[in-house]
Amino acid sequence: MLPVSIQMRILWTLAMGTVFVVLLQYQSSGAWSQQQGQPVARPDLVAEDLVSMALSKVVVDESAGVSRDLLMGISRQIARYVVYSASCSNVGGGVFGNGVSGGGGYGGGPGMTTVEPSTVYVITPTYRRPEQVADLTRLAQTLMLVRDIHWLVVEDSHVKSPHLGVLLQSFGVRYNHLIAPMPERFKKIRGAKPKGVANRNRGLKWIRQNAVEGVVYFADDDNTYDVRLFNEMRNTQKVSMWPVGLCTRTGLSTPIVKNGQLVGFYDGWIAGRKFPVDMAGFAVSVKFLLERPNAQMPYKPGFEEDGFLRTLAPFEPHQIELKADNCTKILVWHTQTKKNEPSLNVDKEKYKNTNILSLKEIIV
Ligand code: UGA
Ligand code: MN
Repeated sequence: MLPVSIQMRILWTLAMGTVFVVLLQYQSSGAWSQQQGQPVARPDLVAEDLVSMALSKVVVDESAGVSRDLLMGISRQIARYVVYSASCSNVGGGVFGNGVSGGGGYGGGPGMTTVEPSTVYVITPTYRRPEQVADLTRLAQTLMLVRDIHWLVVEDSHVKSPHLGVLLQSFGVRYNHLIAPMPERFKKIRGAKPKGVANRNRGLKWIRQNAVEGVVYFADDDNTYDVRLFNEMRNTQKVSMWPVGLCTRTGLSTPIVKNGQLVGFYDGWIAGRKFPVDMAGFAVSVKFLLERPNAQMPYKPGFEEDGFLRTLAPFEPHQIELKADNCTKILVWHTQTKKNEPSLNVDKEKYKNTNILSLKEIIV
Protein backbone atom coordinates (compact mmCIF):
# COMPACT_ATOMS: atom_id res chain seq x y z
CA MET A 1 0.00 0.00 0.00
CA LEU A 2 1.42 3.38 -0.98
CA PRO A 3 1.54 6.19 1.60
CA VAL A 4 -1.53 8.45 1.52
CA SER A 5 0.44 11.46 0.30
CA ILE A 6 1.68 9.53 -2.74
CA GLN A 7 -1.79 8.20 -3.46
CA MET A 8 -3.06 11.76 -3.42
CA ARG A 9 -0.38 12.82 -5.87
CA ILE A 10 -1.21 9.96 -8.22
CA LEU A 11 -4.87 10.87 -8.13
CA TRP A 12 -4.02 14.52 -8.67
CA THR A 13 -1.88 13.65 -11.66
CA LEU A 14 -4.53 11.49 -13.26
CA ALA A 15 -7.15 14.16 -12.60
CA MET A 16 -4.93 16.78 -14.28
CA GLY A 17 -4.57 14.61 -17.34
CA THR A 18 -8.29 13.98 -17.53
CA VAL A 19 -9.12 17.68 -17.18
CA PHE A 20 -6.83 18.52 -20.07
CA VAL A 21 -8.30 15.77 -22.20
CA VAL A 22 -11.88 16.86 -21.53
CA LEU A 23 -10.94 20.46 -22.27
CA LEU A 24 -9.37 19.34 -25.47
CA GLN A 25 -12.37 17.27 -26.52
CA TYR A 26 -14.55 20.28 -25.95
CA GLN A 27 -12.34 22.43 -28.11
CA SER A 28 -11.90 19.91 -30.90
CA SER A 29 -15.63 19.25 -31.04
CA GLY A 30 -16.45 22.93 -31.34
CA ALA A 31 -15.12 25.96 -33.15
CA TRP A 32 -11.56 24.66 -33.24
CA SER A 33 -11.72 22.06 -35.94
CA GLN A 34 -15.17 21.26 -37.15
CA GLN A 35 -15.68 23.98 -39.72
CA GLN A 36 -15.97 22.55 -43.18
CA GLY A 37 -12.90 22.87 -45.31
CA GLN A 38 -10.69 23.72 -42.34
CA PRO A 39 -7.86 21.38 -41.47
CA VAL A 40 -8.87 19.16 -38.58
CA ALA A 41 -6.71 19.44 -35.48
CA ARG A 42 -4.81 16.31 -34.41
CA PRO A 43 -6.42 15.97 -30.98
CA ASP A 44 -4.31 13.00 -30.02
CA LEU A 45 -1.01 14.82 -30.40
CA VAL A 46 -2.23 18.07 -28.91
CA ALA A 47 -3.68 16.26 -25.93
CA GLU A 48 -0.48 14.42 -25.31
CA ASP A 49 1.45 17.66 -25.40
CA LEU A 50 -0.93 19.29 -22.96
CA VAL A 51 -0.79 16.33 -20.62
CA SER A 52 3.01 16.29 -20.79
CA MET A 53 3.10 19.98 -19.95
CA ALA A 54 0.77 19.47 -16.99
CA LEU A 55 2.81 16.56 -15.75
CA SER A 56 6.07 18.48 -15.95
CA LYS A 57 4.61 20.73 -13.24
CA VAL A 58 3.76 17.85 -10.91
CA VAL A 59 6.01 17.44 -7.90
CA VAL A 60 6.68 13.79 -7.16
CA ASP A 61 8.47 12.45 -4.14
CA GLU A 62 10.65 9.83 -5.81
CA SER A 63 12.04 8.57 -2.54
CA ALA A 64 8.64 6.95 -1.93
CA GLY A 65 9.24 4.62 -4.86
CA VAL A 66 6.88 6.14 -7.42
CA SER A 67 8.80 7.44 -10.37
CA ARG A 68 7.76 10.42 -12.40
CA ASP A 69 8.24 8.37 -15.56
CA LEU A 70 5.77 5.77 -14.39
CA LEU A 71 3.15 8.36 -13.54
CA MET A 72 3.65 10.18 -16.80
CA GLY A 73 3.44 6.95 -18.72
CA ILE A 74 0.16 5.96 -17.08
CA SER A 75 -1.37 9.38 -17.58
CA ARG A 76 -0.32 9.56 -21.19
CA GLN A 77 -1.87 6.20 -21.91
CA ILE A 78 -5.13 7.25 -20.30
CA ALA A 79 -5.12 10.46 -22.31
CA ARG A 80 -4.42 8.61 -25.53
CA TYR A 81 -7.22 6.12 -24.84
CA VAL A 82 -9.81 8.77 -24.05
CA VAL A 83 -8.87 11.04 -26.93
CA TYR A 84 -8.73 8.28 -29.51
CA SER A 85 -12.09 6.90 -28.48
CA ALA A 86 -13.65 10.35 -28.56
CA SER A 87 -12.20 11.33 -31.91
CA CYS A 88 -13.04 7.98 -33.45
CA SER A 89 -16.65 7.93 -32.35
CA ASN A 90 -16.91 11.45 -33.68
CA VAL A 91 -16.22 10.27 -37.21
CA GLY A 92 -18.55 7.33 -36.89
CA GLY A 93 -16.25 4.54 -35.99
CA GLY A 94 -13.84 3.49 -33.33
CA VAL A 95 -10.50 2.59 -34.73
CA PHE A 96 -8.26 1.75 -31.87
CA GLY A 97 -6.99 -1.14 -29.84
CA ASN A 98 -9.17 -3.50 -27.99
CA GLY A 99 -8.45 -4.86 -24.53
CA VAL A 100 -8.52 -8.58 -23.94
CA SER A 101 -11.02 -7.94 -21.20
CA GLY A 102 -13.31 -6.26 -23.64
CA GLY A 103 -13.77 -2.60 -23.25
CA GLY A 104 -14.13 -0.49 -26.28
CA GLY A 105 -14.18 3.21 -26.32
CA TYR A 106 -17.26 5.18 -26.83
CA GLY A 107 -16.91 8.89 -27.09
CA GLY A 108 -18.85 11.26 -25.06
CA GLY A 109 -17.25 14.63 -24.53
CA PRO A 110 -19.33 17.74 -24.94
CA GLY A 111 -20.73 17.91 -28.45
CA MET A 112 -19.62 14.38 -29.28
CA THR A 113 -21.82 11.87 -31.05
CA THR A 114 -22.05 8.79 -28.86
CA VAL A 115 -21.73 5.45 -30.64
CA GLU A 116 -23.77 2.74 -28.96
CA PRO A 117 -21.75 -0.24 -27.88
CA SER A 118 -22.41 -3.27 -30.04
CA THR A 119 -20.00 -6.16 -30.13
CA VAL A 120 -19.10 -7.69 -33.47
CA TYR A 121 -18.65 -11.46 -33.00
CA VAL A 122 -16.23 -12.51 -35.70
CA ILE A 123 -16.31 -16.26 -36.37
CA THR A 124 -13.12 -17.45 -38.06
CA PRO A 125 -12.71 -21.06 -39.20
CA THR A 126 -9.10 -22.11 -39.43
CA TYR A 127 -7.06 -25.27 -40.01
CA ARG A 128 -3.44 -26.37 -39.87
CA ARG A 129 -1.44 -25.62 -43.01
CA PRO A 130 1.76 -23.73 -43.90
CA GLU A 131 -0.10 -20.40 -44.33
CA GLN A 132 -2.17 -20.62 -41.15
CA VAL A 133 -0.09 -18.61 -38.68
CA ALA A 134 0.65 -15.94 -41.30
CA ASP A 135 -3.03 -15.61 -42.25
CA LEU A 136 -4.22 -15.47 -38.64
CA THR A 137 -1.55 -12.90 -37.79
CA ARG A 138 -2.66 -10.67 -40.64
CA LEU A 139 -6.32 -10.94 -39.69
CA ALA A 140 -5.53 -10.29 -36.03
CA GLN A 141 -3.59 -7.15 -36.89
CA THR A 142 -6.73 -5.87 -38.61
CA LEU A 143 -9.02 -6.76 -35.69
CA MET A 144 -6.62 -5.08 -33.26
CA LEU A 145 -7.54 -1.78 -34.89
CA VAL A 146 -11.27 -2.16 -34.34
CA ARG A 147 -13.16 -1.51 -31.12
CA ASP A 148 -15.45 -4.02 -29.46
CA ILE A 149 -14.58 -7.13 -31.39
CA HIS A 150 -15.03 -10.62 -29.95
CA TRP A 151 -13.10 -13.08 -32.07
CA LEU A 152 -14.20 -16.71 -32.12
CA VAL A 153 -11.37 -18.67 -33.67
CA VAL A 154 -12.56 -22.18 -34.42
CA GLU A 155 -10.01 -24.80 -35.37
CA ASP A 156 -10.91 -27.67 -37.66
CA SER A 157 -9.24 -30.10 -35.28
CA HIS A 158 -9.91 -32.58 -32.48
CA VAL A 159 -7.61 -30.72 -30.10
CA LYS A 160 -6.69 -27.09 -29.58
CA SER A 161 -3.24 -26.39 -30.96
CA PRO A 162 -1.20 -24.96 -28.05
CA HIS A 163 0.87 -22.70 -30.31
CA LEU A 164 -2.34 -21.09 -31.60
CA GLY A 165 -3.42 -20.45 -28.02
CA VAL A 166 -0.15 -18.61 -27.42
CA LEU A 167 -0.51 -16.70 -30.69
CA LEU A 168 -4.11 -15.62 -30.04
CA GLN A 169 -3.26 -14.48 -26.53
CA SER A 170 -0.54 -12.22 -27.89
CA PHE A 171 -2.79 -9.95 -29.96
CA GLY A 172 -4.83 -8.36 -27.19
CA VAL A 173 -8.08 -8.92 -29.09
CA ARG A 174 -10.88 -10.42 -26.99
CA TYR A 175 -11.24 -14.00 -28.23
CA ASN A 176 -12.26 -17.59 -27.60
CA HIS A 177 -10.31 -20.49 -28.98
CA LEU A 178 -12.71 -23.27 -29.98
CA ILE A 179 -12.48 -26.54 -31.90
CA ALA A 180 -14.83 -28.28 -34.35
CA PRO A 181 -13.42 -30.97 -36.65
CA MET A 182 -14.93 -31.49 -40.08
CA PRO A 183 -16.98 -34.73 -39.82
CA GLU A 184 -15.01 -37.73 -41.14
CA ARG A 185 -17.57 -38.47 -43.87
CA PHE A 186 -16.75 -35.13 -45.55
CA LYS A 187 -13.00 -35.36 -45.08
CA LYS A 188 -12.91 -38.39 -47.35
CA ILE A 189 -14.73 -36.65 -50.23
CA ARG A 190 -12.48 -36.15 -53.27
CA GLY A 191 -14.28 -33.10 -54.72
CA ALA A 192 -15.57 -29.95 -53.03
CA LYS A 193 -15.71 -30.17 -49.26
CA PRO A 194 -17.89 -28.15 -46.91
CA LYS A 195 -14.96 -26.05 -45.71
CA GLY A 196 -15.33 -24.29 -42.40
CA VAL A 197 -18.92 -25.40 -41.83
CA ALA A 198 -18.39 -27.38 -38.61
CA ASN A 199 -16.30 -24.44 -37.35
CA ARG A 200 -18.95 -21.82 -38.13
CA ASN A 201 -21.72 -23.89 -36.55
CA ARG A 202 -19.55 -24.25 -33.44
CA GLY A 203 -19.19 -20.47 -33.39
CA LEU A 204 -22.97 -20.07 -33.68
CA LYS A 205 -23.44 -22.49 -30.78
CA TRP A 206 -21.07 -20.41 -28.65
CA ILE A 207 -23.05 -17.29 -29.52
CA ARG A 208 -26.34 -18.94 -28.56
CA GLN A 209 -24.82 -19.89 -25.21
CA ASN A 210 -22.99 -16.65 -24.45
CA ALA A 211 -24.20 -13.62 -26.39
CA VAL A 212 -27.38 -11.59 -26.03
CA GLU A 213 -26.85 -8.80 -28.51
CA GLY A 214 -24.40 -7.60 -31.13
CA VAL A 215 -23.65 -8.83 -34.62
CA VAL A 216 -22.25 -12.07 -36.06
CA TYR A 217 -19.86 -12.08 -39.00
CA PHE A 218 -18.16 -15.05 -40.69
CA ALA A 219 -14.61 -13.94 -41.45
CA ASP A 220 -12.47 -16.60 -43.13
CA ASP A 221 -8.83 -16.46 -42.08
CA ASP A 222 -7.43 -15.75 -45.54
CA ASN A 223 -9.52 -12.75 -46.66
CA THR A 224 -8.60 -9.07 -46.61
CA TYR A 225 -10.70 -6.77 -44.43
CA ASP A 226 -10.86 -2.98 -44.29
CA VAL A 227 -11.22 -1.89 -40.67
CA ARG A 228 -14.22 0.27 -41.65
CA LEU A 229 -16.22 -2.83 -42.55
CA PHE A 230 -16.76 -3.76 -38.90
CA ASN A 231 -18.33 -0.42 -38.06
CA GLU A 232 -20.55 -0.69 -41.13
CA MET A 233 -22.06 -3.93 -39.86
CA ARG A 234 -22.18 -2.92 -36.20
CA ASN A 235 -25.76 -1.61 -36.25
CA THR A 236 -27.28 -4.48 -38.24
CA GLN A 237 -30.93 -4.97 -37.20
CA LYS A 238 -31.60 -8.24 -39.03
CA VAL A 239 -29.21 -9.07 -41.88
CA SER A 240 -26.92 -6.62 -43.64
CA MET A 241 -24.99 -7.06 -46.90
CA TRP A 242 -22.29 -5.29 -48.91
CA PRO A 243 -20.01 -5.92 -51.91
CA VAL A 244 -17.12 -8.40 -51.74
CA GLY A 245 -14.17 -8.01 -54.09
CA LEU A 246 -13.20 -11.32 -55.70
CA CYS A 247 -9.91 -11.99 -57.39
CA THR A 248 -11.69 -13.90 -60.16
CA ARG A 249 -12.94 -13.01 -63.64
CA THR A 250 -16.32 -11.99 -62.17
CA GLY A 251 -14.44 -9.67 -59.84
CA LEU A 252 -17.37 -9.05 -57.52
CA SER A 253 -20.09 -10.59 -55.45
CA THR A 254 -22.65 -7.97 -54.43
CA PRO A 255 -26.27 -7.03 -54.09
CA ILE A 256 -27.39 -5.03 -57.16
CA VAL A 257 -28.79 -1.68 -56.07
CA LYS A 258 -30.90 0.67 -58.17
CA ASN A 259 -32.30 3.92 -56.78
CA GLY A 260 -31.36 2.77 -53.32
CA GLN A 261 -33.29 -0.51 -53.66
CA LEU A 262 -32.07 -4.10 -53.91
CA VAL A 263 -32.97 -5.41 -57.38
CA GLY A 264 -30.90 -8.59 -57.51
CA PHE A 265 -27.48 -10.12 -56.94
CA TYR A 266 -24.29 -9.98 -58.98
CA ASP A 267 -22.20 -13.11 -58.53
CA GLY A 268 -20.30 -15.45 -60.80
CA TRP A 269 -22.38 -18.35 -59.62
CA ILE A 270 -26.10 -17.84 -59.07
CA ALA A 271 -27.04 -21.55 -59.27
CA GLY A 272 -30.64 -21.07 -58.22
CA ARG A 273 -29.61 -19.61 -54.91
CA LYS A 274 -32.10 -17.33 -53.17
CA PHE A 275 -29.18 -15.48 -51.56
CA PRO A 276 -26.27 -15.79 -54.02
CA VAL A 277 -23.73 -14.04 -51.83
CA ASP A 278 -20.20 -14.58 -50.58
CA MET A 279 -19.44 -15.74 -47.04
CA ALA A 280 -17.69 -12.40 -46.40
CA GLY A 281 -20.62 -10.34 -47.68
CA PHE A 282 -23.16 -10.37 -44.85
CA ALA A 283 -23.68 -10.06 -41.11
CA VAL A 284 -26.54 -11.07 -38.84
CA SER A 285 -27.87 -9.47 -35.69
CA VAL A 286 -27.36 -11.69 -32.63
CA LYS A 287 -30.92 -11.00 -31.40
CA PHE A 288 -32.32 -11.95 -34.82
CA LEU A 289 -30.26 -15.16 -34.76
CA LEU A 290 -31.35 -16.05 -31.23
CA GLU A 291 -35.00 -15.74 -32.31
CA ARG A 292 -34.27 -18.50 -34.84
CA PRO A 293 -32.98 -21.39 -32.72
CA ASN A 294 -32.66 -23.75 -35.68
CA ALA A 295 -30.60 -21.48 -37.91
CA GLN A 296 -27.32 -23.10 -38.93
CA MET A 297 -25.05 -23.74 -41.87
CA PRO A 298 -25.61 -26.84 -44.05
CA TYR A 299 -22.77 -29.17 -45.10
CA LYS A 300 -23.43 -28.35 -48.73
CA PRO A 301 -20.41 -27.11 -50.68
CA GLY A 302 -21.25 -23.96 -52.60
CA PHE A 303 -24.57 -23.53 -50.84
CA GLU A 304 -23.34 -22.74 -47.32
CA GLU A 305 -24.24 -19.04 -47.39
CA ASP A 306 -27.59 -19.57 -49.10
CA GLY A 307 -28.46 -22.51 -46.87
CA PHE A 308 -27.63 -20.57 -43.72
CA LEU A 309 -29.54 -17.44 -44.80
CA ARG A 310 -32.57 -19.57 -45.69
CA THR A 311 -32.61 -21.01 -42.17
CA LEU A 312 -33.12 -17.43 -40.93
CA ALA A 313 -36.71 -17.57 -42.27
CA PRO A 314 -38.91 -15.68 -42.02
CA PHE A 315 -36.50 -13.43 -43.86
CA GLU A 316 -36.77 -12.18 -47.44
CA PRO A 317 -34.28 -10.39 -49.73
CA HIS A 318 -36.22 -7.10 -49.55
CA GLN A 319 -35.41 -6.96 -45.81
CA ILE A 320 -31.65 -6.90 -46.43
CA GLU A 321 -29.95 -3.82 -44.99
CA LEU A 322 -27.59 -2.44 -47.62
CA LYS A 323 -24.27 -1.20 -46.27
CA ALA A 324 -21.05 0.36 -47.61
CA ASP A 325 -22.81 3.44 -48.99
CA ASN A 326 -25.60 1.54 -50.70
CA CYS A 327 -23.13 -1.11 -51.85
CA THR A 328 -20.85 1.32 -53.68
CA LYS A 329 -17.70 0.52 -51.65
CA ILE A 330 -15.58 -2.60 -51.43
CA LEU A 331 -14.47 -3.07 -47.83
CA VAL A 332 -13.64 -6.77 -47.97
CA TRP A 333 -11.86 -8.98 -50.48
CA HIS A 334 -12.22 -12.72 -50.86
CA THR A 335 -8.51 -13.21 -51.29
CA GLN A 336 -7.00 -16.66 -51.16
CA THR A 337 -3.53 -17.38 -49.92
CA LYS A 338 -1.57 -19.52 -52.35
CA LYS A 339 -1.43 -23.08 -51.07
CA ASN A 340 2.09 -24.24 -50.29
CA GLU A 341 3.74 -27.55 -49.54
CA PRO A 342 4.81 -28.14 -45.92
CA SER A 343 8.43 -27.28 -45.21
CA LEU A 344 11.06 -30.02 -45.14
CA ASN A 345 12.12 -31.70 -41.91
CA VAL A 346 15.21 -30.26 -40.30
CA ASP A 347 18.18 -32.25 -39.07
CA LYS A 348 17.51 -32.49 -35.31
CA GLU A 349 21.10 -33.47 -34.52
CA LYS A 350 22.70 -30.74 -36.57
CA TYR A 351 20.48 -28.00 -35.09
CA LYS A 352 20.41 -29.36 -31.53
CA ASN A 353 20.32 -26.55 -28.93
CA THR A 354 19.71 -23.85 -31.55
CA ASN A 355 16.74 -21.60 -32.31
CA ILE A 356 16.02 -23.60 -35.47
CA LEU A 357 14.28 -26.39 -33.58
CA SER A 358 11.93 -24.06 -31.72
CA LEU A 359 11.23 -22.04 -34.87
CA LYS A 360 10.39 -25.25 -36.67
CA GLU A 361 7.68 -25.86 -34.05
CA ILE A 362 5.89 -22.73 -35.27
CA ILE A 363 5.94 -23.43 -38.97
CA VAL A 364 4.26 -26.29 -40.82
C1 UGA B 1 -15.17 -19.93 -49.45
C2 UGA B 1 -16.14 -20.13 -48.27
O1 UGA B 1 -15.58 -19.59 -47.09
C3 UGA B 1 -16.43 -21.59 -48.04
O2 UGA B 1 -17.33 -21.74 -46.98
C4 UGA B 1 -17.02 -22.13 -49.29
O3 UGA B 1 -17.16 -23.51 -49.15
C5 UGA B 1 -16.12 -21.86 -50.48
O4 UGA B 1 -15.77 -20.48 -50.57
C6 UGA B 1 -16.81 -22.24 -51.75
O5 UGA B 1 -17.94 -21.78 -51.91
O6 UGA B 1 -16.22 -22.93 -52.56
P1 UGA B 1 -12.57 -20.66 -49.91
O7 UGA B 1 -11.87 -19.37 -49.91
O8 UGA B 1 -12.75 -21.37 -51.20
O9 UGA B 1 -13.98 -20.59 -49.11
O10 UGA B 1 -11.96 -21.72 -48.92
P2 UGA B 1 -10.95 -21.60 -47.73
O11 UGA B 1 -10.56 -20.21 -47.43
O12 UGA B 1 -9.92 -22.62 -47.98
O13 UGA B 1 -11.85 -22.14 -46.52
C7 UGA B 1 -12.85 -21.36 -45.89
C8 UGA B 1 -12.58 -21.28 -44.39
O14 UGA B 1 -12.66 -22.58 -43.82
C9 UGA B 1 -11.20 -20.73 -44.05
O15 UGA B 1 -11.29 -19.87 -42.94
C10 UGA B 1 -10.38 -21.97 -43.75
O16 UGA B 1 -9.37 -21.75 -42.79
C11 UGA B 1 -11.43 -22.94 -43.21
N1 UGA B 1 -11.16 -24.35 -43.56
C12 UGA B 1 -10.87 -24.73 -44.82
C13 UGA B 1 -11.20 -25.31 -42.55
O17 UGA B 1 -11.44 -24.98 -41.38
N2 UGA B 1 -10.95 -26.62 -42.88
C14 UGA B 1 -10.64 -27.02 -44.13
O18 UGA B 1 -10.42 -28.23 -44.37
C15 UGA B 1 -10.61 -26.04 -45.14
MN1 MN C 1 -10.67 -18.45 -48.46
